[in-house]
Amino acid sequence: MLSVLRLRRLVRQVPLQTSFIFLFLLCILSVFLSSYFLFAIKRKLEPSLAAGRSADDLYVTPSRPLPFLSGVGGTLSSDGSRTDPVVLVFVESPYSQLGQEIVAILESARFRYRTEISPGKGDMPTLTDGQRGRFVLIIYENILKYVNMDAWNRELLDRYCIEFGVGMIGFFKALVETQNELRRSIPDFTFNLGFSGKFFHAGTDEEDRGDDLLLSYVEEFWWFPHMWSHMQPHRFHNQSVLAEQMMLNRRFAEDQSIPTHQGYAVAPHHSGVYPVHIQLYEAWKRVWDIRVTSTEEYPHLKPARFRRGFIHRGIRVLPRQTCGLFTHTIFHKDYPGGPQELERIIDGGELFLTVLLNPISIFMTHLSNYGNDRLGLFTFKRLLNFLLTWTHLKLQTLPPLQLADKYFQRFPSDTEPLWQDPCEDKRHKDIWSKEKTCDRFPKLLLIGPQKTGATALYLFLGMHPDLSSNYPSKETFEEIQFFSGHSYHRGIDWYMEYFPLPSNSSSDYYFEKSASYFDSDVAAVRAAALLPRARIITVLSDPVERAFAWYQHQRAHADPAALKYSFHDVITASHNAPVKLQVLQKRCLAPGWYATHLSRWLEHYHHDQILVVDGQTLKTDPASVMEKIQTFLGLENQVDYHKTLAFDPKKGFWCQLLDGGKTKCLGKSKGPRYPDKQSQVFLRKYYRDGNIQLSKLLYKMGQVLPGWLREDLLNIR
Ligand code: A3P
Repeated sequence: MLSVLRLRRLVRQVPLQTSFIFLFLLCILSVFLSSYFLFAIKRKLEPSLAAGRSADDLYVTPSRPLPFLSGVGGTLSSDGSRTDPVVLVFVESPYSQLGQEIVAILESARFRYRTEISPGKGDMPTLTDGQRGRFVLIIYENILKYVNMDAWNRELLDRYCIEFGVGMIGFFKALVETQNELRRSIPDFTFNLGFSGKFFHAGTDEEDRGDDLLLSYVEEFWWFPHMWSHMQPHRFHNQSVLAEQMMLNRRFAEDQSIPTHQGYAVAPHHSGVYPVHIQLYEAWKRVWDIRVTSTEEYPHLKPARFRRGFIHRGIRVLPRQTCGLFTHTIFHKDYPGGPQELERIIDGGELFLTVLLNPISIFMTHLSNYGNDRLGLFTFKRLLNFLLTWTHLKLQTLPPLQLADKYFQRFPSDTEPLWQDPCEDKRHKDIWSKEKTCDRFPKLLLIGPQKTGATALYLFLGMHPDLSSNYPSKETFEEIQFFSGHSYHRGIDWYMEYFPLPSNSSSDYYFEKSASYFDSDVAAVRAAALLPRARIITVLSDPVERAFAWYQHQRAHADPAALKYSFHDVITASHNAPVKLQVLQKRCLAPGWYATHLSRWLEHYHHDQILVVDGQTLKTDPASVMEKIQTFLGLENQVDYHKTLAFDPKKGFWCQLLDGGKTKCLGKSKGPRYPDKQSQVFLRKYYRDGNIQLSKLLYKMGQVLPGWLREDLLNIR
């Protein structure tokens, strides 16, 4: 009792005006359902039964001979009818609610009636009295009892109805009725049903009749395409083949007049949605104009509270919640841990908390939860009751497109996905294309910053037989700039294309260099999500020297602002300076806040994974640096760079030694190393605190302080 009161208090703390959107998405794989809905069976006289049969042709049970007459029917009463004016009502139980309601209607209309418990096998009441029918109308409280009756008895009943011209009314329970019931508290609540056309009419006779029954209520629900044969899209590498399969389902929908304008689809087992399979996204758009989907897999199944949405290739992916109805749970009594366990998760447990804590909840479960023990309907009705009893939540439902609008208005920062390594999560790996491999990701990132020597290091690394760099980019040359730039939204398939298909050799070790990673706000978190085991190398040179080299580089590339303003102007520009100048200043100085940027990388990578290279040593003694790097990377094949590099006095740099004694060098230096004295003094002061922080950080990391930093610290004292 105490806990209930506490719960009540907790719930009341939730702002009343909070609008909670509650959308249940239910995937019905083989379309067979029951619904609590008046279902009048329109029976046609089947030719075999209707025409020209003699009494002798009639089917006679061994236990109960049937004295039916075909054609003329039974004995006519004075009012001309061949049956007694009695209605036969098949109820679920003597206490069932709908059964009692039916009886009440019959009584108030002064009908004579007789109630019977719906027979399963063998207990069909006697339908005839001599040549006269005993009932004028048959009512089934639950039409499924008729549908699932053994063939013997159903045929008996069918013949009775045909012979005596008796009609049958069935109450087609559950789905529509539950929908209507939920609508009383959630306006316009509508079940969203998924279909896989290949399974239409592919079940038992009963199931096939269920398919038809459901389709006769097609307008009552929303519909979404599943896959034609429930196949997993990530298994299709060829987009056109995938699209063809989707077309089959589309044609099925058109043939059956299933409305498909919701722009929403769900992939079996979340396949291809996350980790994203570009082929699925493109085929969905092409065939169905899909704009919204949902998954439980982003970023991971567990913990559920971290599930998020994202947008990829114009398709909005909404987070889906788990409702605890596993596919194998068909019957209430068989619920794992017993029915009380299901009730516990509903009544204040996980399911209740899911709705309480998520402003938007999307649930999906399977046909078996609807067609068998109506576990799905039971669960959601009970959940709704619990919510209405214990909270003031305002529940609302929206069609998928509007729901997606709402979600991303509310969580705009969810727009960008964070791509993770599909091989780090077994569930993800299982729904990732076999044609894709995590071995095609780099194991080493050279993160810059700009103008510290990273290009030279990139060249030297590429000389190692076990290391392979990325293919060049048309836009950004040797750099991919995936984690820091706008290409990130293109996804990991795009990124992987920059690396060769892995050979069988275990020594494949890919690396890439993008100098913009070091000081990017987002690169570290993104890189760590996709490449959690990668090694990271940053080259740090004197930030004063770096800022000046960067400025000269901009001038050499005719940056108008750099040409217009002197270096001193740039570094000393105030908050009132022209915006262009301020922007230039930031780009010039910010990468030199080494401690700030390195700390960010250390938030996402263990310090053992990061190596800080002294830019000055790289310039003067690259072979020693390369030795250290090979050890850091754990390369078995140690190359002696003293033999493969040569100093080029003309260029003033170490270069790659080619066959025949020639050298391959990078471009020559773009001017003096240090700026004017005044600027130097200004910048020394500007970077002083940052450099002190950097020394502490490197000390903690157990890394050797670069020579330039030691010198700088000595001067500070
Ligand atoms: P300058 O071009 O101003 O001399 P990055 O590649 O990170 O942008 O850095 C470019 C800087 O790398 C060059 O700046 C140069 O000082 C330095 N560097 C270090 N070793 C080098 C090498 N072997 N060849 C060319 N430049 C080298």
